Amino acid sequence: SGASIEQDSDRVTLSLSSGAKATILLYGATVISWTINDRELLWLSEASALDGSKAVRGGIPLVFPVFGPPRAGTAVEALPQHGFARINKWNLLGRIEDEAGISVDLGLSSDSLDEDTKSKWPHSFGLIYSVKLTADTLETKMVVQNPDPSNSFDFNVLFHTYLRIPDVDKIGVQGLDSLTYRDKTLGGSEHPESAETIKITGETDRVYMNAPDKVTVLSDGAPLFTVTKLGLKDVVLWNPHTSSSKMGDWAPAEGYKNMVCVEAGSVASFQNLEAGAAWEGGVVHKAHL
Ligand code: BG6
Repeated sequence: SGASIEQDSDRVTLSLSSGAKATILLYGATVISWTINDRELLWLSEASALDGSKAVRGGIPLVFPVFGPPRAGTAVEALPQHGFARINKWNLLGRIEDEAGISVDLGLSSDSLDEDTKSKWPHSFGLIYSVKLTADTLETKMVVQNPDPSNSFDFNVLFHTYLRIPDVDKIGVQGLDSLTYRDKTLGGSEHPESAETIKITGETDRVYMNAPDKVTVLSDGAPLFTVTKLGLKDVVLWNPHTSSSKMGDWAPAEGYKNMVCVEAGSVASFQNLEAGAAWEGGVVHKAHL
């Protein structure tokens, strides 16, 4: 398939002879670039740390086992915002090649966490994250394993994809109408979505609950991305707009005009994983170029 994989000390790059390329940092297993014929499809802040000192601002950070700021009184309360998957170094497990493309598997388990994190979330777990590149898609899939023979645990998981767009004023998001969303800019209050095509006109931070599997991002009325989730319940739509100035790692200042986060996950409620069981979910990001 003309596929190749390049490995450095801190990252892995997948390429296809068709012109598609993706780069994954081992830190957080964060996809930091996805290009087709050199056109970048993900937004990455120019001020993002990439050295493992802080979660990456852009690309596809992974959220696990909690989404957002943990709530007091829950089993995740001591963890940092969005959990620990995005701030730990993952292991490269292997690669698979077929006619359609190339994929790599990365792993993170309770054994590789530091004692402090382990004490804050004392569960045995294994995560296997697969990133697959085809000519026009980037597929991300997570397997969560609970090897403990007697205890279950609860988790959130989310693929925090920053899509790169030409102009936020010209985009529309379809597939979320007639759902109820929690508006995090309004304290998490619930609202019905009536717009068939959602426009972004200011700070937007919404959890669309029990969303259908396919969401389309249109630019100037034409599909630019299709985000298809599998085994995941919710879709988060986020654009910080001018409030991005509050984030120290956001650049350029007007970068919010060139991004929208369409994040598929199970976050509105916890997913329970029985003792000895495994769970699987993922996202296909398709670019219409
Ligand atoms: C989104 C949340 O998923 O991530 C937002 O809905 C949050 O509330 C955003 O601001 C970015 O989070 P962080 O921790 O990367 O700054």
